[in-house]
Amino acid sequence: MDLGLKEARVLVTGGASNIGRGIVHGFAAEGSRIVIADIDEDQAERVKTEALARGAAAVEVVAGDLTREGEAQRAVDAAVSSWGGLDALVNNAGWSTPGFVAKNRDRDNWQRTVEINFYTAIAATQAALDPMREQGSGSLVFVASEAAFGQIRQGVYGATKAAVVAFARTTAREHGRHGIRSNIVCPGLVVPEGPEAVGANSLWSVGKDNVFTDDQAQYLLKDTPMGSLTTAEDVANAVLWLSSARAARQVTGQLFSVSGGYTMP
Ligand SMILES: NC(=O)c1ccc[n+]([C@@H]2O[C@H](COP(=O)([O-])OP(=O)(O)OC[C@H]3O[C@@H](n4cnc5c(N)ncnc54)[C@H](O)[C@@H]3O)[C@@H](O)[C@H]2O)c1
Repeated sequence: MDLGLKEARVLVTGGASNIGRGIVHGFAAEGSRIVIADIDEDQAERVKTEALARGAAAVEVVAGDLTREGEAQRAVDAAVSSWGGLDALVNNAGWSTPGFVAKNRDRDNWQRTVEINFYTAIAATQAALDPMREQGSGSLVFVASEAAFGQIRQGVYGATKAAVVAFARTTAREHGRHGIRSNIVCPGLVVPEGPEAVGANSLWSVGKDNVFTDDQAQYLLKDTPMGSLTTAEDVANAVLWLSSARAARQVTGQLFSVSGGYTMP
């Protein structure tokens, strides 16, 4: 099926690394026009080159910290000023440091977790709603997590993702009348496919084993019906389908786990 995303105007937050990079690659293959908004300019520029090689109609990098006032607006403005509007926003930027809340009492760490996972999605959504309401159309996809349903060592991170779910669904209810759809994708564990897939600011930059050991992955796979880990491309395919006004016209406020069935929300 033709998703109708050729020339679509798309903004991917955190588009420079791992899952976000896979989402940018996916839109690129559809011939979309893409803004990559990421704090890591060097990695974003590398992904821009990859996206153009994969067929993107245009790519712009807006480098900045999306937790800062005005940065999300700047990213949306880049799409609107270059291409006259915004068809799809993917709220993907995120960060986590696994840890037991009873042990890690570092308030700054948890504050930053909330700011990156939740506030960036609020700010980018607020900025995107204006042009989408004006157009009378638009898609928002929020990249949440299985941790939103409760996972060991993911207390605060999971809570931010649960907040994202509630925010996305409220947005779906409030803005459906303006032709705007809002959905959620919860990826299973996505280990970066190689060093080229992650940037310096990636949560994976501390080394894969410091995020998730092979033993932990094997344990997780025992409870995964499909028996395999999720890839960035798997997540991207779901995001693209949801972003397509043609394919997912009547789909809003919905949550999809792309995890091989690890959770069935
Ligand atoms: N990888 C997984 O297993 C997994 C599983 C479930 C959900 N998720 C979620 O998917 C999303 C992507 O995860 P990932 O593994 O690709 O992470 P990642 O850390 O590799 O990529 C996140 C990107 O966001 C950018 N970023 C971080 N803070 C930013 C800020 N303040 N402003 C602008 N950009 C910022 C980083 O530079 C990076 O490019 C996150 O929201 C994460 O919580 C990941």
